[in-house]
Amino acid sequence: MTAATGSAAPPAASTPARQLLILAHRVPLDGAFTLNDLAGGAGRLDEIARAVSTALTLSHDLRRDTEVAILVASAPPPAARRIRVIGAQVRFLNPDERSTAALLKNALIRSAHFPHPFASSPGVVIEAVDPLAALKGFVAQPGAVWLDEAGTPLEDWTPPPVVRAVVADPSGPTDAEREVLRAARLPTLSVGPRSLRTSQVIDIFHNRLDRAPGGTRSGSPD
Ligand SMILES: C[S@@+](CC[C@H](N)C(=O)[O-])C[C@H]1O[C@@H](n2cnc3c(N)ncnc32)[C@H](O)[C@@H]1O
Repeated sequence: MTAATGSAAPPAASTPARQLLILAHRVPLDGAFTLNDLAGGAGRLDEIARAVSTALTLSHDLRRDTEVAILVASAPPPAARRIRVIGAQVRFLNPDERSTAALLKNALIRSAHFPHPFASSPGVVIEAVDPLAALKGFVAQPGAVWLDEAGTPLEDWTPPPVVRAVVADPSGPTDAEREVLRAARLPTLSVGPRSLRTSQVIDIFHNRLDRAPGGTRSGSPD
């Protein structure tokens, strides 16, 4: 991948009201996996893709007020990547997990030798990051929360105008990530008494936000 064949990252749009950061630990960073083995060789990309689809799709529509970022930290910097899928801009996002996984795989392959932010397809922006620094930066922003089984009940929390939520893949946060999350002293929220799949947690979280005043008004609070 070279600068000539990638699109420059689009200019920053207005702040999405809902931002999700998924911590992913096992997806091969070079994109060298088959879409026929998403749960195995692709490092549980099946669940990541399902979570992205859940985060951004409605029935016959998209959640344009939502951005989901996947922090792919299966190798140390500079190999680690952040893939942002921007609800207001994304194209070619279908509800099935295989085609969503294909968008993410395409981003990883095209960024292999190109660490600067660029759009691998419309609304999908990938860049090399230091995962712990990226996590620290995300949780330092207003409205950040950590979705975790041991948190306080979601019902007791009042959503701020811009919500930034961290959720992990099926292996859960690493010790180093937990340390960053604890040090940030951000609200830790539980969506229920059972340990759920990442995609299920996102569904429940969206539902809580949808039920808040103004929750179904799509767009940005700016
Ligand atoms: C399948 S769970 C990971 C379970 C893993 N054994 C662990 O120790 O974290 C994936 C992620 O979903 C979120 N999660 C799962 N159940 C949750 C709950 N009841 N409330 C809030 N978040 C939850 C957490 O972010 C969790 O790390």
